Order: sequence, then C-alpha cells, then structure tokens
Amino acid sequence: MNARDAFRKEYGTEPSGLWAAPGRVNLIGEHTDYNDGFVLPFALPQRTVAAVGPAPAGEWTVCSTFQDEAISFGHTEPGEVTGWAAYVAGVVWALRDAGHDVPGARIAVDSDVPLGSGLSSSAALESSVLTALIDLGGLDVPLERRPAIAQRAENVYVGAPTGILDQSASIRCREGHALFLDCRSYEVEQIPFDLAAEGLAILVVNSNAPHQHVDGEYGARRKSCEEAARLLGVPALRDVTGAELDDALARLDDEVMRRRVRHIVTEDDRVLETVRLLKAGQVREIGPLLTASHASMRDDFEITVPQVDLAVETALAEGAYGARMTGGGFGGCVLTLLDADKADLVTAAVEQAYAEAGFTAPTAWTVTAGPGATKL
Ligand code: GLA
Repeated sequence: MNARDAFRKEYGTEPSGLWAAPGRVNLIGEHTDYNDGFVLPFALPQRTVAAVGPAPAGEWTVCSTFQDEAISFGHTEPGEVTGWAAYVAGVVWALRDAGHDVPGARIAVDSDVPLGSGLSSSAALESSVLTALIDLGGLDVPLERRPAIAQRAENVYVGAPTGILDQSASIRCREGHALFLDCRSYEVEQIPFDLAAEGLAILVVNSNAPHQHVDGEYGARRKSCEEAARLLGVPALRDVTGAELDDALARLDDEVMRRRVRHIVTEDDRVLETVRLLKAGQVREIGPLLTASHASMRDDFEITVPQVDLAVETALAEGAYGARMTGGGFGGCVLTLLDADKADLVTAAVEQAYAEAGFTAPTAWTVTAGPGATKL
C-alpha cells in the first residue's frame, strides 16, 4: 500500500496532493552542525511520502502504512503526542509557534527510508509534513527558514537535541548535488556531485547494529563541545581554526574534551577541503578525507561501533577510495566511495566479514543524489 491508498482507506476520499521528502547521507561533516560548522549531505532516493487533505480548523489526523491506528490531535504542547506521530504534531506546533495559521489536515504517510539507521527517517517525516502544510495553507515560509522549524519540532516537541543537518538536507538538497551548508549562517552552495559520469559510486552499508543509549551519548558529545567552546572563550567550536588547534588544546585540561575538540576542528577543515576537491573535479581524491573522518570519529569523538569499523576496514581492503560512518553514530550506516563496478565485490566482502565476526548481516545498496522535499 502507498500513501495515496492509505489515505483513501482511512478517510474514504482523495487527498489534495502528495508531498515527498528524502532521507539523507552525510558525505562528510559529522557532529559539526551544532558547533556552527560545515556539513556536506546529499539526499537519498529513499523518501517519505505524505498524502494530505483538508480537515476542520484545529484538527489533525495522521495514519501510516506501518501502523494500524490513526492518531488525532488538536492544539498540543510539546510532549503531549508521543511515538512517531510526535514528529507530525511537533511540526504543527513549531509552525504555529512561529506565528503561522496552520490548516487542519488529514495525513497518510508511507516511507522507504530505513528506520533508526542514521539516514534521517525522522527528518524525512517532518519535512514532508511541513512542506505539505505550508503548501496547503499557502503559508509564507521561505525555503531557508524551513529546516529550523522542523528542527524545533524535534528539539523542543520530541525532545532530541539534534542539529540542523538532517532537516536542511531533506528540504534544501538538489538532485545531482551535494549541499554545502554553513550551519551558522544557513547559507548553502549546491556542489555538483555526479559520480556515475566518473565511473564511481557511493555504496551505503547499513550495519544493522542495534542502536543503544543513542540519545544520552549524543547529548553528552554536544555538552562537551559547548563546554569546550565556553572554556576557550569562543561562541562555538567553529571559531577555532585548524591553525589555532594546538594552542586551544593546550588550554584544555580534560583529555576527553581535547579529543572531542580535535574531531570538530579537523572535521570542519575536511569538509572545506572536500568541497574544494569536488569543485576542482578531483572526486577520487576526497577518499582519504572520508577515511580520515572515520578515524577521527572512531578515535577522537568515539561514536563508532565494531560493526561500522569492520565495514570501513573491509571496503578499504577491497580497494574503495575512502569509507566512513555517516550520521550520528553508535551503529547506523557506512558510506564508501568506489569504482561503480566494485560495488558487488565490496558488498560480498563486507557480508563475509560480518558472518565471520558473528554480526547480524549488513544491507548494502548504491545511491545517487536525489531531490529535496517537493510536491509530487
Ligand atoms: C544526527 C543529528 C544531526 C547531526 C548528526 C551528526 O543525525 O540529527 O543534527 O548532528 O547526527 O552529524
């Protein structure tokens, strides 16, 4: 069943339209977003589709192809609606809180973004519903202001202390491009990212490793970065340059905090260098930056798990140009840059390595840069 069928079945009528928003892969720039730094995501072909139609003012109902029960709510405050529908109620709340007259709506959603794999299934849900409600209500919300509204839904309504990366990717990415985003100014630059023309591909390997204590660990990393910025007397770690890194580290007593800072400062530099290489058409050359980013996440930020480390090592041993975990960490997916004709070989090698290690089998597929949120 798709979103349109689910809408017809639940509400006995046709939707006014269908809106889609993608999950994302972050090419590089991990945990830099809440440090006011740089990120470089692209949109996945996998997306969430919301079929939406009108309802009386102040009434919203959501159903989906993955749950039996429809959920209805009126004007709510953060935390009142829980479970997956909280992302929808959060978007309604955040739009209203920003002063918009949000139309009542009936919504049916369907999604092929893998859940809980670090590919931003929640941002895809928020962004599809946000875009639909803005269009349906004729609301005046410029594109560059939309991600922050969806982010507030997640931060304040759902209560997850995430940055601006995922919602920006889902809303502002363009097909065939990676999105270079300055997380302080929200300025973007669309970087052409057509791997097929170079005989290259990105293989995404979902480690299928169970997520554990994710929220607590994420929040702890964020706190440590914010505390470090305070101790260093800068608004955010983005304000420490690579050239200033050694001095900054010498001023911090805590060894763990020093490592967190080193990851963020070097990662921002890697994003800038990746953008420079892509613009120069040197796509293969970004490989070592991806791999260095992984090492930094593993050793300094300490957010990888054995499953993702093994996928990275195996892909590199099979000749990938670079490989790294993508997303918040503690499980999730690895992306590898490789010759397109090596994708099957690398997939088989990772599957074998996982079997030998006794890990749950991984899932792997190649991806291209898809479009951002849109009405279908
Ligand atoms: C999660 C968060 C993002 C970002 C990444 C790490 O996906 O939602 O805001 O911090 O982790 O880069």
